[in-house]
Amino acid sequence: MERENFGTRFGVLVAMAGSAIGLGNLWRFPYLVGSYGGAAFVFVYIICVFILCLPILFSEVIIGRRSSSNAFGAYRKLAPGTKWKWLGVLSIVTPLIIVSYYSVVGGWGVEYFFKAAMFEFTTGVTRSELGSMFSKFTSSVWAPLMGHSIFLLLTAFIVISGVKSGIEKFGKIMMPLLFVLIIVIAVRAVTLPGAAEGLKYLFSPDFSKIDASVCSAALGQAFFSLSLGMGTMLTYGSYISKKENLAASSTYTAVSDTLFALLASCAIMPAVFAFGLNPQEGPSLVFETLPFIFSNMPMGGIVAILFFLALIVAALTSSISLYEVVVAYLVEEKQYTRRGASILVFIVAWVLGALCSLSFGPLSSFKIFGQTIFNLFDKLSANILMPVGGLLLVIFAGWVMKKDDVISEFTNGGTLKCNRKISGFVYFMIRYICPLIVIAVFASSLIF
Ligand code: PFF
Repeated sequence: MERENFGTRFGVLVAMAGSAIGLGNLWRFPYLVGSYGGAAFVFVYIICVFILCLPILFSEVIIGRRSSSNAFGAYRKLAPGTKWKWLGVLSIVTPLIIVSYYSVVGGWGVEYFFKAAMFEFTTGVTRSELGSMFSKFTSSVWAPLMGHSIFLLLTAFIVISGVKSGIEKFGKIMMPLLFVLIIVIAVRAVTLPGAAEGLKYLFSPDFSKIDASVCSAALGQAFFSLSLGMGTMLTYGSYISKKENLAASSTYTAVSDTLFALLASCAIMPAVFAFGLNPQEGPSLVFETLPFIFSNMPMGGIVAILFFLALIVAALTSSISLYEVVVAYLVEEKQYTRRGASILVFIVAWVLGALCSLSFGPLSSFKIFGQTIFNLFDKLSANILMPVGGLLLVIFAGWVMKKDDVISEFTNGGTLKCNRKISGFVYFMIRYICPLIVIAVFASSLIF
């Protein structure tokens, strides 16, 4: 069967940027900025993205396009009969874990979108009522499960429609909309009286705050946000035609992802400061603190609807990329139909997600390594599985693949002049620097 490819250059970009831009930008990044001291974290994060993670992103896309294969098949094809197939296995299991807990948070977005549409935050509720609204909601059984089911169904539906007419088409419509939405919200937030404090918090770093924990959180977030180390960008890379410039698409992806994370923070932090709230709220920042802000800001009702719409759209374009990794594997390696594979993934991800969802309520006392199931999935994936996956794949590109093949893929057989000029440097980064730094940061986070 002929493999489907993305149809246009813009299609490649929106699909890759769509995968990168998601809850990681709107939900995870702002609360990490708050928890790890503001601008210092932003500074380390940007360095991680452009110096360390961009070459890893190149590597992942190169492996995908070179092999024209799903994440499991790629390692088998490029290094047949070796233990590298286990990296392939990791690249299928990790997205499955992430999509399940991701869908739970996406489901919270669905619920909050409906709440926003009913103007529930803006009808005279107090801050503590909003706090208890969130904890009451997440600890209940049915409402979050409903959100999770709706979100996962939407994801499955887009993936079933195929690479070109599902993933690419959805991205082409939704990604521009997403940027417009976040810009409107950011403009509203930074023009609030007292917003300047928030901007200072975001952009004026206190370098003394940088320590091992900040570096490891920033690196983990960079991996998460760029969708690295788990077969997603590899799978998308395999749908990119041989004529496209991989380095350009990857760089645009990193730039738009970072821009979006900064815009999202500009939409949130200035408002947090304008209302004298605490930026260190943690994961509930978006669901507790923001609704309070919406309830107090002029036109907050409309802004709330736009914000949660943006959150759902961003989350969907990412969850389809996770879902696609597993579907591509089942279709190509296990001869499933696209529909059959999507249904199977739905069932497994639904069950895992349901366990995550229930870990806020009836299963809250069930702990593994001292963590609830949801926290375990979140920490395990961003702090361990993704950096380990990323480390192994960059070692694969730097040490297992032939140098000529990597460079040829990077320069389209030597025809891209600009890429040719930087290829020596990029290869050096891939082979030596990236693996060393990832190991160092990883080790220091285990030691300190
Ligand atoms: N990059 C996505 C985000 O920032 O929300 C999350 C993600 C998607 C992680 C796809 C990993 C992945 F493979």
